[in-house]
Amino acid sequence: MNEELKKVVSNLIGEEIEVLIKVSNRPDLCDYQYDGTFDLSKRLHKNPMEVGEEVASSLNEIPSCLEKFSKIECAKPGFINFTLSDAYINKMLNNMNTQEKFGVQMPKQETIVIDYGGANVAKPLHVGHLRPAIIGESIKRILKYMNQTVISDVHLGDYGLQIGQVIYGLKEESIKPNEITLEKLSELYPKISGLCKENKDIKEICEEITKDLQDGNQEYHEYFQKILEISKKDIKKMYDYLGVSFDLWLGESDTYKYIPEVTKELESENLLEESEGAKIVYVAKEEDKKEFPPLIYQKSNGGYLYGTTDLATIYQRKKDFNPDKILYIADKRQDMHFTQVFRVCKKLEKLKYIDFEFLGNGTINGSDGKPFKTRAGNTPKLEAMFKEVKEIFLNDETHEREYTEPDLDKIINSIIKFADLQNSRDKEYIFDTNKFAKVIGKTGPYILYTYLRTKKIITNNHQYVDNLSKTIYNVHDRNVRMKLLELENILHFAFKNRASSVIANYLYEICVLVNAFYENNHINNLEDNKKKTDWVTLLNLTTKIIADLLDLLGIEIPSKM
Ligand code: ARG
Repeated sequence: MNEELKKVVSNLIGEEIEVLIKVSNRPDLCDYQYDGTFDLSKRLHKNPMEVGEEVASSLNEIPSCLEKFSKIECAKPGFINFTLSDAYINKMLNNMNTQEKFGVQMPKQETIVIDYGGANVAKPLHVGHLRPAIIGESIKRILKYMNQTVISDVHLGDYGLQIGQVIYGLKEESIKPNEITLEKLSELYPKISGLCKENKDIKEICEEITKDLQDGNQEYHEYFQKILEISKKDIKKMYDYLGVSFDLWLGESDTYKYIPEVTKELESENLLEESEGAKIVYVAKEEDKKEFPPLIYQKSNGGYLYGTTDLATIYQRKKDFNPDKILYIADKRQDMHFTQVFRVCKKLEKLKYIDFEFLGNGTINGSDGKPFKTRAGNTPKLEAMFKEVKEIFLNDETHEREYTEPDLDKIINSIIKFADLQNSRDKEYIFDTNKFAKVIGKTGPYILYTYLRTKKIITNNHQYVDNLSKTIYNVHDRNVRMKLLELENILHFAFKNRASSVIANYLYEICVLVNAFYENNHINNLEDNKKKTDWVTLLNLTTKIIADLLDLLGIEIPSKM
């Protein structure tokens, strides 16, 4: 419709100009609105109503406008209001209903590496690891849905100081590699990292162990292998529970073999500088508003750091996949680190053509606004958090009482993921278990319940067809149809902005309208067969859309609620 309006308006003032039609904020009056008439009236020295009337009457003579709109009129003090025709709405919905992925236009295909999850070996997974996993999984699914070639990598933190600390603890207790258990690891990490804070000497020993391990010390390597094996199994279990999966299970330790090449590359571009025995790369730019410290590439003791392994990883990804883009999802407090790494890459001939995006996430807080804790008052390991959510959900009286274990897991996942994904990625949010475990409200269970309720109508009245008739029967019915027409825009926006929250919120809006529709129209008892077929067909399209959107959020559907 922009085309037609542009033509009319340009004709009127005798030069080509752009027009913008907005979605109306008074859906009871019209679907779309144009307010450019006020500017036009100034240019034409006429009053806005007069201009509006002229524009509206020209539009009303164009056949394509007559097909699309049941009404185009000028409203006081000069707006043009557009109301879509029922026939056109249904034609668009029928296109969605009969085409793959609802006929959504796909963006240009690119190869994208997505780095998320980022669990640390030898440290228990806690609430802080939840967001990068949930958000990353959803972004990955959105990218794939939009036809991108995607490679996902968990990028484990497996070669940092925590490994040296745990090895130190194990050796202190004379535990051999084959005697290591998960329990021992979860006990040792907090203990030794605590010790390191109090005792500089112990910290130095742990750093030394870490460095020797990285340099190939055989004994430490045996410890490392065993720690990695045990810890990875535990990490996998948790990601499996969350339905989060990766193509690659690489970690920092896998990148060491690429470091010599990166060093050579940096040296040949004269980018490595000495500073107090360490090797650094300057990344500050003149236009920086805050100070940008250099990236520390190699410590004075010869050890490598987080930035080094990230550079080496990019090198490996370039070699293996030649990606157009690399996306990272991690706590937003790592912003500086990633900016440093990306800036170094932009100085390297081999890596500078890759687009980098750091998608930082905000933290999860408890109802008191402080970092989330369980009722027992601990910063919870993930398992403890899931258990608490499960208890609260099961104690709620408003839904089914009996669930199979897999169904219950899906519901717990929906609670946690929908609570998370409805918020903008980069904002903190408050996880209030009592609120998010409810079937009523903006919650995962509410969405699942709506889906299952709608699905039941379809199973009970198996009379859906490919094409809706030209009729829309009432306002609740129309509201659902109009909402579904937003799908393409929503998907494009979510894809472009890596914004799962837009999908979560849209999904919720659909569900609210579907419930209102259901409650006001008693489909099961309908005598009018045409109406019934139309409505079941509409609900069938709706459930297909809800199912796809849930999948994009990584939420699975249980068999009942
Ligand atoms: N292991 C890191 C952490 O726990 C996150 C890793 C993010 N990815 C990366 N390529 N640096 O903070």
